[in-house]
Amino acid sequence: MIILLPTAVLSLVWVAASSNIDLVNPLIGNTGPEPNFAGGMIPSVAPPFGMTRWVAQTHQNYVSRLPYNYSDSEIIHGFVGTHQPAIWMGESGMVGVVPGLSSSTDGKVKARFEERGLRKRVGSEKFGVSLYEVELETDGGGNIDVAMTATSRVGHFRFTFKTDAAWHPYILLQSSRPSELFHSTPTASHFNISYPDGWTSIFPEQNRICGYNSEMQDWVIAPVSSMQDVENKQRDGRGHGGFKGWFCAIFDREFDGYGVTQGSEQRDRALEGLGEEVGAFARFEYPSDQEELVVDVRIAVSFISMEQALVNLEEEVPQGTPLETTEQITRAAWEEKLDRIEVEGGKLEDRRVLMTSAFHALQYPYEQHEYGKYYSAYDDEVHDGESYNGYSIWDTYRAEWGFLLLFAPERIPGMIQSMLQDYKEGGWLPMWKNIVETNIMIATHADSLITEAVLKGFEGGFDVDLAWEAVWKDATVPPEKDWEVKYEDREEGVDYEVRAGLSSSYADPKKGWVDDDIHSESVSRTLGYAYDDHALSLLSAHLNKSPSVTSLLHERSMRAPWLVWNSDATSVDDYVNEEDKIRFNGMTKGFVQGRNVDGSWADPTSGFTEGDKWAYSFDIVHDIPGLIEKRGGKEAFVQSLNEHYDGGWDWFGNEPSHHIPYLYTMAGRPDLTQHRVREIARANYNDTPQGLSGNEDCGQMSAWYIFGALGFYPVNPVSKEFVIGSPFFDKLTLHLPSPEPDASPFYDAQRQAYTLTVEKQGDPEAIYVKSVAVNGEEVDLYGGNPIIRWEDIYHGGNIVFEMSNTPVFAVSDDTAGIVHEEL
Ligand SMILES: *[C@@H]1O[C@H](CO)[C@@H](O)[C@H](O)[C@H]1NC(C)=O
Ligand SMILES: *[C@@H]1O[C@H](CO)[C@@H](O)[C@H](O)[C@H]1NC(C)=O
Repeated sequence: MIILLPTAVLSLVWVAASSNIDLVNPLIGNTGPEPNFAGGMIPSVAPPFGMTRWVAQTHQNYVSRLPYNYSDSEIIHGFVGTHQPAIWMGESGMVGVVPGLSSSTDGKVKARFEERGLRKRVGSEKFGVSLYEVELETDGGGNIDVAMTATSRVGHFRFTFKTDAAWHPYILLQSSRPSELFHSTPTASHFNISYPDGWTSIFPEQNRICGYNSEMQDWVIAPVSSMQDVENKQRDGRGHGGFKGWFCAIFDREFDGYGVTQGSEQRDRALEGLGEEVGAFARFEYPSDQEELVVDVRIAVSFISMEQALVNLEEEVPQGTPLETTEQITRAAWEEKLDRIEVEGGKLEDRRVLMTSAFHALQYPYEQHEYGKYYSAYDDEVHDGESYNGYSIWDTYRAEWGFLLLFAPERIPGMIQSMLQDYKEGGWLPMWKNIVETNIMIATHADSLITEAVLKGFEGGFDVDLAWEAVWKDATVPPEKDWEVKYEDREEGVDYEVRAGLSSSYADPKKGWVDDDIHSESVSRTLGYAYDDHALSLLSAHLNKSPSVTSLLHERSMRAPWLVWNSDATSVDDYVNEEDKIRFNGMTKGFVQGRNVDGSWADPTSGFTEGDKWAYSFDIVHDIPGLIEKRGGKEAFVQSLNEHYDGGWDWFGNEPSHHIPYLYTMAGRPDLTQHRVREIARANYNDTPQGLSGNEDCGQMSAWYIFGALGFYPVNPVSKEFVIGSPFFDKLTLHLPSPEPDASPFYDAQRQAYTLTVEKQGDPEAIYVKSVAVNGEEVDLYGGNPIIRWEDIYHGGNIVFEMSNTPVFAVSDDTAGIVHEEL
């Protein structure tokens, strides 16, 4: 034992120094010139998939604004446990923790956001995945030092007051606050302040403060039928009915005074408060023999009850747990995930972007269950089971879900079961679930998530019959009032949007497009529904459903995209400047375009979701050969991709652009994919707070980077195929978890994981690929089958890219003459 000790110490030091956690920069993607050009990521502490994320508060948060903005963070207004999943979504059930000082003359507690801010000491702020630290300057001349960590349902703080004894330290727990609600109409959008109810109760004998608020900003866009149960119960127009974000905070010191605040009023020695802008505070005394006062606070949250918050507290951070222990538990949870990645070579900055991408991608969807139970806002009841929240499915079906299937398979059954519970409790699978369904974005891509999971072997993990029932409803049952309601983005007072326009699309079986003069986003919907039908045709075949069902879905999926394809449309009128008009000269022919009820073409700019005719014309991922043909063959198709990029039509920060660079490879020009993917990675990702060019969207931006780094991308997520790109690092290894022993030659029994390695040979600076071998067998990269299969990687594997400094193309290729100007 004694002999082993130095080795143990040494190895500890070595592990700490080499941990991937140190490569994570939680500030990446926090800010940007405006919300649409920012990642909108909150630099929070929480474990992977954690229910509540804790962050220093610089702003009151709401749709379009985060609780922390690094560009504007000199003043810290306390700390929040947040459930805001993304910048364009609302907050639900937040809780605020605010340290402060009263002067001994007036005893004032500063509760309001505007008055309670403290300046952070320059250089004192430290961000980590499991620990945040800052020193706050006070009027009293001293500091309040803060250390913050968190488990999934418990925030753990240490406040060290180092101030003049004339000042009296307190900690305020904010239950309810003024809350901005975002209302959007086709012509304008505006904010309207609301005042959700809150409640607080102080238990001085137990050193405890509990409370709740009913804040749920996105209730304004919840489907009307999902609100009915809630309305029957107790909706009061100020919050979402029965929903409550509960909390219980326990302090490790006796209170030396306490009270309740309401707005700017203060009631010392009051034990309870109810209503708008409610808070409760506890005061503390400096130990007589010391110059510092240290207060440890553990704050549990619950969506179920105060009692449940106390259960969560004892489960995760039992009494007496030092902050260091809590921090180590969360750190270990991240290490368990991030140390499954080994990266060699590349720039340090790029390795940091990669590891932070994994850190982002492993936060969503997040836990909403609390030890065997969960609160459902769909029926306003507590149920048994596991539940998840933060489903941005229109974004995440592309690559984020594929990453989770590979890298966090243990979570998949629970995440799908959660979607099926939403179906049982609300009648539909989620589109964008932020506690409630929000109808944000379009199409029923839960169909894709479920299909991809079943085809990739997760069938046993959830109720597949129920899943089929739910997806079949998506494909066949239109929403309420489908002929009247436009289902605009964020339209209020409407029901579940699901496949809006399904009624009119198939009113005549020969039709199949969503009418632009009835519905918003008609082209994007038509294409999205076609893709979902494609996914379901594969699922139907896999589950041995009736052949007529499979062929109906297949037929719809292959026909609908071409109904909105206008072969005569060109790009010539898209350019404002004459020079570009002449330069491209209507080069690209054939674009998607909306159609009206009578079959006529709609305005070419109408009918798109976060994109335009350019991006969406490439968004027919299940029929790329058909698309290449419509664009006039491979050469014309490659030209059209060049025009897409060189003509300035790509907006990579929006998801419909994500797969586009890989289409070059599918048209016989892998060299151009290799070039573009590297260019896109450089232009849209970096190791700074401005390091994401577009919204993270619950992991999708980051999942793109991870697949980019691996050198392959899921262009059609349900195909089980990945299109080959150009790997970023000399060697990237993923240890894919699998607790069951396996005969795969790539199974690592010690790690209980499959080993997947991607290696580059040749000049590490080279971006072009000469050849690719998967498990020793060469891939037909330049001969028309540039694919890596799920079967090649999910039980581990070895992929070797031989790199080249110059572009490579097949001699016989009819597109070989096309060069991209900037090459
Ligand atoms: C953060 O603050 C900066 C500076 O005020 C502002 O430009 C930006 O829009 C804010 N929000 C985000 C998400 O970047
Ligand atoms: C703002 O909210 C109040 C209720 O809180 C409501 O009476 C008023 O109509 C709302 N105003 C707008 C413009 O939505």
